[in-house]
Amino acid sequence: MKVIKTISEMRRWRRANRGTVALVPTMGFLHEGHLSLIRKAKSHAQQTVVSIYVNPTQFAPGEDLDKYPRDIERDEALCRAEGVDVVFYPSNEEMYPAGHKTYVVTEDLSGILCGKSRPTHFRGVTTIVAKLFNIVQPDSAVFGQKDAQQALIINRMNEDLNFGVHIIIASIVRETDGLAMSSRNKYLSGQHRTEAAVLYQSLQMARREFESGKRDFETLKNKMQRHILHNSSAKIDYIEYRDAETLAPVQTDTKKILFLLAAYFGKTRLIDNIILK
Ligand code: PAJ
Repeated sequence: MKVIKTISEMRRWRRANRGTVALVPTMGFLHEGHLSLIRKAKSHAQQTVVSIYVNPTQFAPGEDLDKYPRDIERDEALCRAEGVDVVFYPSNEEMYPAGHKTYVVTEDLSGILCGKSRPTHFRGVTTIVAKLFNIVQPDSAVFGQKDAQQALIINRMNEDLNFGVHIIIASIVRETDGLAMSSRNKYLSGQHRTEAAVLYQSLQMARREFESGKRDFETLKNKMQRHILHNSSAKIDYIEYRDAETLAPVQTDTKKILFLLAAYFGKTRLIDNIILK
């Protein structure tokens, strides 16, 4: 496994490499969710590149950029064990040299849901993913359904800017109590960690009601809200239901409904979602 730290070396590797390449963009501190993406990438291409980069432009001032967990040695060992071909691990100077002025914005989609409380977040995500696509020039790239809005926005950007990358979305990997795996779960205190299971419980409540024929999504949403507030100290940022393909409001003929939520446990903001068909 090669660890590449510069854009020029990454480009050289790509030019010398004729096989298909799948990219897995990450911010490191890898967990089973990331590893499931890597396994998916390996089944889609001859070579797998994992990027590890805590992207400063997707964090707002006052967010957790400085304390975002990092452990590059452990990440490298995990990637090696999964049979990754290249870890791309660039520095800030490499990715955002002095004078960097260009951003990629996917309008509308980046201002709703998570974009309401994090107005510059998705601009940072689309900018770094566009840069990674240009640097690595992958045939395919794997993202997680865990970040459903992010996956939809990247899909849109890929279409709109004609990157031509095959975007693969991998399902959510969960802890045994249902909490979606996340590098940020590390921030949770013991009590908050236990309580955080209410998020998935509330999504499963929605699924049960949906499967028993209920289609009053507002009532479903209120039930979820009550479940979370009665069983934890969480502060809910939002609970919403949208068209799973477009994030548009649900219509009577919407086929796949995405229930998404974000909630704070102390200072830690967690997100989760479920698709109802
Ligand atoms: P990060 O949070 O490290 O996540 C990297 C990828 O792993 C994302 O596509 C995310 O959706 C996926 N992922 C995280 N937890 C998961 C889980 N429990 N199950 C399945 N997939 C999971 O998302 C980012 O980094 C960044 O925004 C990035 C796209 C790398 C741009 O900086």
